[in-house]
Amino acid sequence: MLKIVKTTAYTDMKMGTAGLRKKSKVVLQENYLENFVQSVFDAIGGVKGLTFILGGDGRYYNKIAIQKIIKMSAANGMKKVIVGQNGFISTPASSHVLLMNKADGGFVLSASHNPGGINGDFGIKYAVASGGQCPTAVSDKIYEISKTITEYKTLDVSDVDLSRLGTQKLDNMEIEVIDPVKDYVDMMEHIFDFEALKKLFAGGFTMVFDAMNAVTGPYARRIFEEILGAPEGSVLNYVPLEDFGGLHPDPNLIYAKSLVDLMYSDKAPDFGAANDGDGDRNMILGKKFFVTPSDSLAILTDNYKLIPAYKNGIYGVAKSAATSTAVGRVAEALNIGYYEVPTGWKYFCNLMDSNRITFCGEESFGTGSSHIREKDGIWAVLFWLSIIAATGKSVQEITEEHWKKYGRSYYMRNDYEALDVETANQLMADLEARLPQLAGQTFGSYKVAEAKPFVYNDPVDGSSTKNGLIVYFTDKSRIVYRLSGTGTNGATLRVYLERYETENLNEDVAQTLESLADVSRQIGEITKRTGKTKADVLT
Ligand code: G1P
Ligand code: ZN
Repeated sequence: MLKIVKTTAYTDMKMGTAGLRKKSKVVLQENYLENFVQSVFDAIGGVKGLTFILGGDGRYYNKIAIQKIIKMSAANGMKKVIVGQNGFISTPASSHVLLMNKADGGFVLSASHNPGGINGDFGIKYAVASGGQCPTAVSDKIYEISKTITEYKTLDVSDVDLSRLGTQKLDNMEIEVIDPVKDYVDMMEHIFDFEALKKLFAGGFTMVFDAMNAVTGPYARRIFEEILGAPEGSVLNYVPLEDFGGLHPDPNLIYAKSLVDLMYSDKAPDFGAANDGDGDRNMILGKKFFVTPSDSLAILTDNYKLIPAYKNGIYGVAKSAATSTAVGRVAEALNIGYYEVPTGWKYFCNLMDSNRITFCGEESFGTGSSHIREKDGIWAVLFWLSIIAATGKSVQEITEEHWKKYGRSYYMRNDYEALDVETANQLMADLEARLPQLAGQTFGSYKVAEAKPFVYNDPVDGSSTKNGLIVYFTDKSRIVYRLSGTGTNGATLRVYLERYETENLNEDVAQTLESLADVSRQIGEITKRTGKTKADVLT
């Protein structure tokens, strides 16, 4: 039954911000997935006797890839695989199941918020025993091995039935098929006060959750409708589809358009939220009101005492450098630790493992806490609902009161997409070289205080990572430039704009940041080098 297959190496298996992410058609190439999986197994010294968690967001190729990985795991001597029923599991649930079972690693098959289908994207996130995605040293090793791999091991057997819950054997390996929702729901019940949330809905509170035809549908139906008592129909697009029904499962103002339209209409419920393909991102909306993820992190942190799991205190908080500084002001007021890390959730994990932080978040609609080692979309929604239940205030009131207390960071991300890779790399390299000359220069009403690359020195493992370039202005405004590490189509330049205001708190965001956006194009020579006079996507 054991089959050793000769294979030819590929040279493009370098993991990005969150695992290996490729066009589906790239992953469909002969032995592509197998090469990657065997490279992971080899990089960690083999998987004999180990236990792995396995599942995915249900996108195109999920089912086939899971079967391949199961057979390869057995052929490589793995002891046990814990698989989500029918191959489904959300990224946060997978991290939880991994930690709960003290497993040695796990794969989540997902390209997160990128579209699915044969013309969309596919991806594999590889998590290690800590529950988070593998550190760079490990992904570098996998990449090296993948470039010279010559064979992989698998079993010549028929597919395993993943619809039946319970345990079965494949060769000497145990396969346990689990309900991917149950353990996750138990965990949420331990963090939040579900009785208070039931009362909120019993009192007529209305919400809509858009699962975007992706993995969170079953989780959201179970939690919001069945347990908490939100009326049936509160969860939209809840059946996970291989191509997400053509949706781009990225919960932001652009791609969650039908939800946004509803929330800005006169029929808006009290609360609106969406999650991404694999359930780790979230977007929060009130009636005709949008909360930026940067503000959301600040508001959750400021309200930690309202949640049973955190009421005795939190360690600290971290954000990616590109995320607005709003949470920094809360950390200062609460007198808790505050860290700025590179983009990518993996950088938070050491801080959580060492009890330096409890909460963390990114501007890219990611928020989470140390209950797992991934961001967690439904957790963020439950946190917001809990604040509403405890205060009796609306999303808008909560946010506006926050601005009054701390001031407001007007914030926006500008993405310049599908750039020529060479042009984008050169733009960043040349900008970095020009940074030292920028200090003291004036652009319109903005004067540069300092400009430097963002360098993170991890206080736990001592590693040093450079990610992005930051221009600081004398009025506390900032521009951050970096190239995306998750795109699959040329290069994407991300430019993050932030302007701090203590008085004009209710202005239009785009207008407030318009001149800073011009300055960002000027400083980065964006129009000159790419021909683009404005960004392709504004979030
Ligand atoms: C993007 C986001 C980043 C997030 C990552 C994975 O990465 O910007 O915050 O951690 O997706 O969800 P990027 O494409 O910018 O490298
Ligand atoms: Zn995701």
